[in-house]
Amino acid sequence: MTQSNVQVRAMTPDDISLGMELKNTAGWNQLPPDWQRLLALGPDGCFVATCDGVDVGTATTTTYEDKFGWVAMVLVHPQYRRRGIGTALLYTAIDYLEERVATVKLDATPMGKKLYDTLGFADEYIMERWLGRGTKPLRVPGVEPITPDLLPTLCDFDRPMFGADRSKLLGMLINEEPNTPLCIRDGGRIVAYGILRPGYHAAQIGPLVGLQPQSVETVFRALLTAAGDQYIYNDMLLPNPHTAELLRKYGFEKQRHLIRMFRGDNRHPGHPQYIYAASGPAKG
Ligand SMILES: CC(C)(COP(=O)(O)OP(=O)(O)OC[C@H]1O[C@@H](n2cnc3c(N)ncnc32)[C@H](O)[C@@H]1OP(=O)(O)O)[C@@H](O)C(=O)NCCC(=O)NCCS
Repeated sequence: MTQSNVQVRAMTPDDISLGMELKNTAGWNQLPPDWQRLLALGPDGCFVATCDGVDVGTATTTTYEDKFGWVAMVLVHPQYRRRGIGTALLYTAIDYLEERVATVKLDATPMGKKLYDTLGFADEYIMERWLGRGTKPLRVPGVEPITPDLLPTLCDFDRPMFGADRSKLLGMLINEEPNTPLCIRDGGRIVAYGILRPGYHAAQIGPLVGLQPQSVETVFRALLTAAGDQYIYNDMLLPNPHTAELLRKYGFEKQRHLIRMFRGDNRHPGHPQYIYAASGPAKG
């Protein structure tokens, strides 16, 4: 079969069941709300590949101002791999993003990296997925819920850390049931925050961001308390020197790694040393 049989079209909400089927073949953690969020963030930037009329692959994009954009959910049905379908999806996603942002970024699995290496992506740093479990209630002085009126304050704090404004994403994450968004403030300004949301295999912490390890630990303890008995993933960034120690202290163990990669001029890397959990591989 040749690449001429492959077509890429826009993804719609009707394709979420396809997305769930494909991500299950890869053992990933997303739920339908994760796909809905991606479609809401990039309504014309999410794609499905068809081969001889059969839906066989997906890729999504999310833009953050004109600074950078994320490619995610790059999935090809196992029976259709190594036929150029991943490449066709990536070319579409890259073309879409390069019209809108300076840098294209993604979090690659080791398998995905083999494809992205062929398309001019460079490694930025390693991320690690750690697995742990919630706890019985812990002492969490000063932690408060992030209510919708705190969104502007939250975004002011987050923007320099992440490297761009992600208020649309944060707004969705703090407003969606049954997510748990928590923060610590000092003189009204947020100094640490974290969000816990449900996942297919385990709940997911992310983003988790803070200036001081102590305040991040307090937010983290509150998220563990909120998770109760559930398993939890925390996708940590290796440039942060404190996260591994924090995760080990609460019984988390490393599961696997991802490679954060970029294509173009990486002018807005943010401050990964203050990020303790990414929002998840799909959105940076
Ligand atoms: C990664 C993935 C999307 C690749 O899709 P694909 O349709 O097989 O990719 P392509 O056929 O376009 O591959 C293009 C090139 O990438 C490289 N490549 C892709 N998959 C590879 C693999 N498993 N091993 C080695 N090289 C690989 C090869 O150079 C390949 O060219 P070739 O087949 O002519 O040698 C697919 O394997 C997949 O869905 N994997 C599971 C989910 C996943 O890890 N996605 C990546 C998320 S970051």
